[in-house]
Amino acid sequence: MKILVTGGTGYIGSHTTVELQNSGHEVIIVDNLSNSNINVLDSIEKISGIKPEFEQFDLIDTEKTTDFFKRNNDIQGIIHFAAFKAVGESVDNPLMYYRNNLFSLVNILQGMKDNNIENFVFSSSCTVYGQPEELPVTENAPIQKAASPYGNTKQISEEIIFDTVKVSGIKGMALRYFNPIGAHKSAIIGELPLGIPNNLMPFITQTVIGIREQLRVFGDDYSTPDGTAIRDYIHVVDIAKAHVIAVERMVNKKMKKDFEMFNLGTGNGYSVLEVIKSFEKVTGEKLNYKIVDRRAGDITQVWADTKFANDELGWKAEKDIDEMTLSAWNWELALKEI
Ligand code: UFG
Repeated sequence: MKILVTGGTGYIGSHTTVELQNSGHEVIIVDNLSNSNINVLDSIEKISGIKPEFEQFDLIDTEKTTDFFKRNNDIQGIIHFAAFKAVGESVDNPLMYYRNNLFSLVNILQGMKDNNIENFVFSSSCTVYGQPEELPVTENAPIQKAASPYGNTKQISEEIIFDTVKVSGIKGMALRYFNPIGAHKSAIIGELPLGIPNNLMPFITQTVIGIREQLRVFGDDYSTPDGTAIRDYIHVVDIAKAHVIAVERMVNKKMKKDFEMFNLGTGNGYSVLEVIKSFEKVTGEKLNYKIVDRRAGDITQVWADTKFANDELGWKAEKDIDEMTLSAWNWELALKEI
């Protein structure tokens, strides 16, 4: 199959490209390289033996996107990762987020409609659930008002896809990621945060390697067993593999509805302190951290009900928390050598 991967040089996109190529699919990447590096293409080739086709342009550029789809109307499926993803930045600059994340989506769907491309997989997020009332959270849990413009772009995007699917031959699938961490076992690709990381895992590895001085643990007064917030961390390679299954399900016409949603999590919740403990155990390193106040906008706890994804996709996350934290560390060590 020929699959378009937007944002394919990014964190989840690069891991997914590797898994798609390992499964025999042909990948074409479109990326504007706004938050990634062109060298990732060579890294993908090192792992999978194939350098994916690549075009650099911005998907918010309607003319370029239209032209791209005209030239590539033999694409069978699209996995759309390309988006801005920093929660805090989106609060400071909402229009930048709405423009980038929504215009690009509309352009792609238009390109699909005009060229009869049917299958669209969307990078969504568990952020759409807010703080769920019931845990583990299922795909049927009510969508809550987004806590940030970033989260809102994920909600609105799902609605745009849903509305489009209703009146076109396009089929959509939203994959709602919990907290992807870790890196490919080769340590050749991984997360490359620009500037100071917002997310927990890269902040931990950068602190231990000496780039940052100290991790701030945001709050130990949550109503959780150790007082720190709980998330469902999932290995990025498990996420990547789910995308291969998802796009194959679509192209092979196995969908039960024209728009499907799946949680991509492990079903296990870990607190911030438990992640730190895992990291220190598997690496033998000591992390310098201190407890500070809660971070605005953070929820107390969330983890996925994975039954629907397990049963319907035949997919299950395989890697445990220790494998996640160790692979993140090995990637940080490899980055030091570059
Ligand atoms: N944390 C710290 N210190 C840090 C960074 C994070 O204590 O320096 C804590 C957070 O407070 C939170 C946990 O670590 O309890 C995880 O935080 P992340 O920033 O890594 O992840 P979030 O759960 O806040 O956000 C992630 C994605 C978002 C997505 C959201 C959905 O980054 O894109 O999950 O819940 F919207």
